[in-house]
Amino acid sequence: MDAAFWHQKWESKQIGFHRDEVNPLLVAHIDSLSLQSGQIFFLPLCGKTLDVAWLLSQGFTVKGVEFHEPAVIALFESLGLEPEIISLGALKQYYTETLIVYVGDVFDLTGKILGQVDVVYDRAAIVALPHEIRGQYAQQIVRVARTPRQLIISYVYDQAVMSGPPFSVPNAELAEHYGTDYKMTLLYTGDVEDGLKGRCPATECVWLLEQN
Ligand SMILES: C[S@@+](CC[C@H](N)C(=O)[O-])C[C@H]1O[C@@H](n2cnc3c(N)ncnc32)[C@H](O)[C@@H]1O
Repeated sequence: MDAAFWHQKWESKQIGFHRDEVNPLLVAHIDSLSLQSGQIFFLPLCGKTLDVAWLLSQGFTVKGVEFHEPAVIALFESLGLEPEIISLGALKQYYTETLIVYVGDVFDLTGKILGQVDVVYDRAAIVALPHEIRGQYAQQIVRVARTPRQLIISYVYDQAVMSGPPFSVPNAELAEHYGTDYKMTLLYTGDVEDGLKGRCPATECVWLLEQN
């Protein structure tokens, strides 16, 4: 799942992960984060998700990272926002007062560039990555975000039935990645309606991670 894979997905409009509605699990569980208006969400691998618009409408500031630049342009356009654009080494920063998106590889982000964030919201991010790099990804998120909380939506299913993405990230694996840094609470678990991609029975989980 290198950059070329994702650019090709976007260019051929094979973006089944992009939903036409705000994620209902975000809306249902945001109160568990005990946040106040004005606090800062970080959405790794953000695509052009409509969750950004909803978070902004709730008074939050949003930071994201995504390496398909046309998706980032589409995100700002959909919000009617005209971003300033600056270059930051390997990354570009698209920004307005309340929305900052870094265009580039999440592994090129640094804590210094990202600055303060109050919560990481991971929807279709860790599950988008193959097993070999999920550990490095989790460490990178902990390192750069230095945040007391995360809300993670994961899938669990029989990886032999379907190859990812999205990948199955079993609860024990998630605990291996984050259990040292966070207390982990399973807020929700439920069947994916009609299965993943309409064919693979799967469970969707919502995790609250709070720093130990
Ligand atoms: C499954 S999509 C999820 C997008 C979004 N979170 C959503 O819920 O619609 C994964 C996204 O991550 C981006 N991506 C994958 N690997 C990345 C990386 N290493 N750095 C930055 N973006 C990446 C892809 O271009 C794609 O838009």
